[in-house]
Amino acid sequence: MLYPELYKSLEAVRWNMGQDVPWADFDGSALSEEQARTIKMNAITEWSALPATEMFLRDNIHDSDFSAFMSVWFFEEQKHSLVLIEYLRRFRPDLAPSEAELHAVRFRFDPAPPLETLMLHFCGEIRLNHWYRCASLWHTEPVIRRIYELISRDEARHAGAYLQYMKRAIAQLGDEARAAFAKIGMLMASSSRSGKALHPTNLHVSKDLFPHDTVQSKLPDPDWLERWLDDQIRFDREWEGRVVTMILKNLSILFDRNFESVQELNRYRKELIRTPAGDRQAA
Ligand SMILES: [Fe+2]
Ligand SMILES: [Fe+2]
Repeated sequence: MLYPELYKSLEAVRWNMGQDVPWADFDGSALSEEQARTIKMNAITEWSALPATEMFLRDNIHDSDFSAFMSVWFFEEQKHSLVLIEYLRRFRPDLAPSEAELHAVRFRFDPAPPLETLMLHFCGEIRLNHWYRCASLWHTEPVIRRIYELISRDEARHAGAYLQYMKRAIAQLGDEARAAFAKIGMLMASSSRSGKALHPTNLHVSKDLFPHDTVQSKLPDPDWLERWLDDQIRFDREWEGRVVTMILKNLSILFDRNFESVQELNRYRKELIRTPAGDRQAA
């Protein structure tokens, strides 16, 4: 089981909302109206770990190790939402999300293949780590800058934990897992082609509710994410390139192959589909 060690390692580096956030350093003159509004949207988006956890537990009913790890992941994601809400409650109480606004992102996701969901969230954590690092640089108020730094590091650690479950899946399932990871890796690293912010909260997850079936569509401002990335924090090609590089680097290690580009990953994905595992090993 991976859960006991993951619990220990995440426990060892856990930050404390009372002690590790320098609340006393707040500088109201350094927080603009538009910056404050983005914090509200991030707080509600983080709350969507709740329906995501419900989905993970349902779709991984066969996997108690991973389900146990969800307790840590869910706790930390809800804490991200809470620390952002706490910031607003202290300094911009008019913008603190209401319980109804938080509850609006809780809806039932359609069942999905667990391996693909795992990879989707692995890539999502990598992406969010970069988004928050970028947001931390855009913000000018020191307390919120520190908060984004703290939560961005948690997102990187979440990616690391998911990666361990991906390694385990490859050891257990071989090419079935590789094919699922390569397929989703392609999708999540192809942001320049899709022109869309590729993150689990921005994907369609319920056929019955389409098109209002993304977490982002449930926000008070459903168009916020693209604006945040393009006009506010300015998550440009260079930042996007770093996300893609991280995804390819991790998949290179995971598959023991070197992927310099998304095209190379795509070629490998096609190989996996075409060649049965036995033949490829013999080749
Ligand atoms: Fe988070
Ligand atoms: Fe996370």
